[in-house]
Amino acid sequence: MIAFVPLSTVDGAAVEALLDRAFGADRHTRTAYKVRGPAAPVAALSIAAVEAERLIGTIQCWPVRLDADDGSSHALVMIGPVAVEPGRQRDGIGRRLMTHALAAAQAAGLDRSLMLIGDPEYYGRFFGFDATRTAAWRLPGPVEPHRLLARGTDVPAAAGMLGPMVPLAA
Ligand SMILES: CC(C)(COP(=O)(O)OP(=O)(O)OC[C@H]1O[C@@H](n2cnc3c(N)ncnc32)[C@H](O)[C@@H]1OP(=O)(O)O)[C@@H](O)C(=O)NCCC(=O)NCCS
Repeated sequence: MIAFVPLSTVDGAAVEALLDRAFGADRHTRTAYKVRGPAAPVAALSIAAVEAERLIGTIQCWPVRLDADDGSSHALVMIGPVAVEPGRQRDGIGRRLMTHALAAAQAAGLDRSLMLIGDPEYYGRFFGFDATRTAAWRLPGPVEPHRLLARGTDVPAAAGMLGPMVPLAA
């Protein structure tokens, strides 16, 4: 049986090793890592899938913000990475992790401004994310526009720069 538990209760080294297996050890150079910066994950929305005391999946969420060119600032939650142990993929675990995180976001009142970088074929089809409001966003690294996805009534369509909620130290 698979248990979904707070990620903070799981060994951090096991989480990092799973992410390396799912994404490759060069994953830290990805644009999503630059967007989230040095912030800590949103604990209530970061979840582990554990089976027989073994970590088989993780989802992490991060506080980010869009600094719009008109001077306004918009808080969002960035979802991801979502990772499932390579030998256990395509068995519904990724969908269950997303479902748990989205329910936690709703319970915490954080589901009105969600974004992620991912495959629209997956996150659109199952979870209603799309790129209709993200076209004018700038990110601190390369991103394919059709993979910059968002969901929620408060997602800003404004032009602006997406980055960490916690600014980098000067
Ligand atoms: C992407 C990932 C999280 C999905 O989790 P999963 O448990 O393997 O997938 P699920 O069982 O929840 O979903 C399976 C369905 O999604 C589809 N699917 C899975 N990954 C997909 C993708 N990248 N694009 C499109 N469809 C995808 C499958 O075809 C399947 O559809 P079906 O039910 O019609 O056959 C997982 O495969 C993974 O960790 N991949 C490597 C890391 C990664 O790319 N993470 C996502 C970026 S944040």
